[in-house]
Formats: sequence, structure tokens, C-alpha cells
Amino acid sequence: MRTGYCGEFSARDAGREVELCGWVHRRRDLGGITFIDLRDRSGLIQLIFNPNQGEAHRLARALDREDVIQVKGIIGKRAAGNINPNLPTGEIEVEVRELRLLNKARPLPFQIQDEVEAREETRLEYRYLDLRRPRMRWNLLLRHKVILEIRKFLDARGFIEVETPMLTRSTPEGARDYLVPSRTFPGRFFALPQSPQLFKQILMIASFDRYFQIARCFRDEDLRADRQPEFTQLDLEMAFVSQEEILALVEELVCHLFREALGQELERPFPRLNYQEALARFGSDKPDLRFGLEIREASDLFAGSAFRIFRETVERGGLVAGLAAPGCARYSRRELEELERLAKGLGAKGLVSLKLAAEGVESAIAKFLSPELVAALRERFQAGPGDLILLVADEPRRAREALGGLRLELGRREGLISGGWKLLWIVEPPLFELDEQGNITSTHHPFTMPKAEDLGLLEREPLAVRADAYDLVLNGAEIAGGSIRIHRRDLQGRIFKLLGLSEAEAEEKFGFFLRALEYGAPPHGGIAFGLDRLVMLLAGAESIREVIAFPKTLTAYCPLTGAPAPVKESQLEELGIELRKESPARGAA
Ligand code: AMO
Repeated sequence: MRTGYCGEFSARDAGREVELCGWVHRRRDLGGITFIDLRDRSGLIQLIFNPNQGEAHRLARALDREDVIQVKGIIGKRAAGNINPNLPTGEIEVEVRELRLLNKARPLPFQIQDEVEAREETRLEYRYLDLRRPRMRWNLLLRHKVILEIRKFLDARGFIEVETPMLTRSTPEGARDYLVPSRTFPGRFFALPQSPQLFKQILMIASFDRYFQIARCFRDEDLRADRQPEFTQLDLEMAFVSQEEILALVEELVCHLFREALGQELERPFPRLNYQEALARFGSDKPDLRFGLEIREASDLFAGSAFRIFRETVERGGLVAGLAAPGCARYSRRELEELERLAKGLGAKGLVSLKLAAEGVESAIAKFLSPELVAALRERFQAGPGDLILLVADEPRRAREALGGLRLELGRREGLISGGWKLLWIVEPPLFELDEQGNITSTHHPFTMPKAEDLGLLEREPLAVRADAYDLVLNGAEIAGGSIRIHRRDLQGRIFKLLGLSEAEAEEKFGFFLRALEYGAPPHGGIAFGLDRLVMLLAGAESIREVIAFPKTLTAYCPLTGAPAPVKESQLEELGIELRKESPARGAA
């Protein structure tokens, strides 16, 4: 129907007769002449309709935004004064001879432009309009490019893409499952996979050796800007490999993607940080290294101090630690209260602030601070007049996490976060951690290999056991996580036992997998990238919803299709399901 895309023509094409199709981006009528910016996925081109073109001109004057048209005309050079240097096709225009209206558009809920003003729910309800915006198109193009380059890269290294089922059993990533009722087995449910973890391990047992998949995963968890109920992983697994080999391959892949997608070179090897050290220095297992502002411990300084709350926290085995924010002694009472609220929201009991002056400090706890203690604090935090020291005292993990959150907030407030890319590996995390009820759970997942040196501690001191696991962090976001896996049945059994699973429960949930381990499972390991997160960062977007064509809202609702939706009584009957609660009329988002 057309000679080419709107954005592909230039002054070289002057004099050519062309046919073009697209959407009416904008119409202007100036002194009897009508101008239309015609848009398609490649960009814009200016159409010009002179009154002497009778019918075409008359039709053009009645066009509205987003009407779909086809035109035939001659490309001409614009007069010098009319050149638009901001537009790739800014030197030319098409003098239209014929116009066909292919389809009318209704008045729009929002304008098609990058600075969209609509609410996100409206954008998602009319996603086909939202996706016409150049920015969204660019994001999805980038995503396409990244996936294509992943496939090329891995194919060239002998990886095979294998699809694994969506209708499966509950998988072990620790979030709530999405369930699908079975008609053929009434009362039974499939779970949608939280990841292809067990299938990829089974593929290693099946001797595939190098597998990958662009895999859809489903997790029913509280949503945030970087979480969706349905998201995409680049999942990979290799057999007969060391951790070093996996990390090296992943680094090469990441460098390849940055080169192909953004034309940028990254430095290798990526730095590595031990998990405990990351927590101690940055209060996070995914530290943003684009700025400093490191956490320092001060328990020793407060151990014998007159400030009872801190002293007693230390006596109980807690931690006193803090941050020094350069130049922030200027913060108002309101700003400090905001920081305290933030710290409390992050779980801290409170936040103590010390404004350093040339002489002494200004602080609610100043009267408890001896001159020696103040001097020691200045020394410890490398802080001087005009700086602000913020201190938290709590159970160590909580104190660190609160300070980690404050660190990020101060980094943002003070404009400390520089551009560029900071990648790092977080290695040697603990194999287990305690959940909120105080039960042992896997830090990564139950199939992660304990460090060989720590095997002896497994039953004696499980929380001290480190794992052969690794996370890849980019600018403070966890973009990938993986591990060497357990490949021996006996060790897997010990881990399940430590996790509080009885033999019967382990058999019931994971029997199929335990059996597979008994038939010659090779040593293996792998990793999974959060593909949406990676593309979001590459695109410079604020939310993964900006790089997913049809995402859900924060309440896991799809404004475009209205899913989830009620179903017919007869469908439920077939599935043997009776509802106890009426579903609301519409999945209000
Ligand atoms: P993990 O649970 O760490 O590991 O997930 C891997 C990566 O997936 C991304 N991710 C998400 N992205 C968007 N929305 C979500 N709800 C979401 N949850 C996770 C993160 C994360 O780093 N089977 C293991 C991998 C392995 O061991 O090989 C797994 O799924 O970027």
C-alpha cells in the first residue's frame, strides 16, 4: 500500500512520487493551505495540501488526530525558512495529490506525545494509543534487540533454548502461586511457574548441558515499580561448570548486550562484594555503588556511654551504626523529621541526628555526649563542621537495612548519584536466613549448593553456612540471581530436613525431582536475569511497566482487558468450584 515508512525519506528523494500510510499526528490550516504531520512507527513526515488539489484538500481539512490515511504525492524540498532541524524529515514535505481516509479515530483520551499527562490506568486501558508514543516504541524495540542479541550470543556458545511448561506444580521461589484449576482432576490445581528452576535442573540431568529460555514467570506478591505478577526471565543452566565459568559467561553476555543495544563498553571483570560486607557497608544486598556515603559502625564508641538507649542496645548484642552526610547540618527540623519517618518506615526504632558545628554538636542527645565521644565520632565518620551524622541502634540486620534506605534517600536528595553503570556481583550469601516467624528459610532457594568448606556446619550452625550463590546488581537493582545447585540426593534431603520438611512432605512436593537426582545428576549451576529489569535500566525507564507491552497495575489488574474477570457459573461447576465470596463487579484497580 505504500512506497516506504514516513521517516525514511530525505532531501535525496525530492521529486519522487510516493504513496504513504499512517496516522494524522497533527493538522494545521494556514492561509488556505493544510499541513498534516503523518506518523507511523518510523517517525513523522509533513504533508501539504494546496487548495488547487480540490478533493484531497477538502478531505484533509476534515481530518482529526489519529485518523488513518493513505496519500499519494510528490516529495519536495521545503523553502529555506520552513526547514525543521528537529525532524529527520525536516527538509522535505509531500505535496499531496490524492488522499484516502482509511479509518476515522474517535476523540482521544490523551494526546500521542512523549510527555503524556494521562493517569497510568488510562494509559493502560488505551495501551494501543500509549504504545504509539515514540518513547514506548523505542522501549519495545530495545527489548526486542536485547532478546535477539541474547539468542545470538547463547546460540553461538552452544546453548539450546527449551520451553518448559506453564501448567505445572508449585515451584520453590517462595512467593504465592497463581493457581489454575483442573477440569480433568476436579479439586486439583496447577500452579503457574514462579521460575523454570526444577525443569532446567532436570534438563541438566537429561544431559542437555547448556540450556536457556526467555521464560515467563508468575509470582503473586506485593507489586512495586520493579515487580510484576507476570514477568520475563532469561533463564540459563549449565552442567559440569564451576562458578567462575558461569560468572565469566554472564559478564561476557552483559558486555555484549551493552555493546549491541547501547553502543557502550563495560569494564570486566565486574567487581565482587561479599554479601555480609555489602550489608555492613551499604545496608543492602543490592548496593548502589554510584555514590559513597558508606555506613560505619559505632557500637564500640557507645558501649560505655551515658546515652542509655544506645548503651543497652550494644549490651544486648545490637548494633549502633550510622552515616555522615556531608554538608547536611543545614537540614531543617522538618527535613530531619522526614528522615526519621523514613527510618521508622524501614523498621528502625528511631533516628538520632548530630549536626556538627565548628565547636561541639547540635543534637537532642547532646547532653549525653562527652567531648571525647564527639571527637571519636568525628574521627570514625570522617566528618567535620557542617556535616550531619545520622545514627541508628537496633538489632544488626534491621539497623543496617534502615541505614541502607537512608543512604539511598540522602544520595537522591543531595544529588550524589552519578550517571553511568555500576555493576557488581554479590557473592557468598548465607545459605539460610530466618523468616519473620523465626523459621529457617533458604536465602536463595532450597536447591542451592552450600559452600564445600561449610558443609560441616550444616546441622550444627546452619545460619553460618555460606552458599555457592551470586546475584548481579546494576545501579542498585538486582538484575540476576543464581547458584551452583545440589546434585546429590543425600545432600538435598539434608537441606529439606533443615528447612523443616518431613520426608513425607519432601516426597509429596519434590519427589519427582529427588528421584531425578538419583539417576546420574551431573554437577550443574545457572542463573536467571530479570529481563524486564535489565531492559528498564538500559532504557533509562522508571518502572518495568514502561518496557512491558501489556503490564498489570499495582493491584495486578489489567485495565485493557479487565482481567481478572468473573466466570460463568457453568464453568465453575465443571471445575467443581463453588465461590464463597462474590467477586466485585469490576476488578477495581
Ligand atoms: P530469582 O527469584 O532471584 O531467582 O529471580 C531472578 C530475577 O528475576 C527478577 N524478578 C522479577 N522481575 C520482575 N518482577 C518480579 N516479580 C520479579 N521477581 C524476580 C529479578 C531477579 O534477580 N530460579 C532462580 C534463578 C536461578 O537460581 O537460576 C530465580 O528465579 O531481577
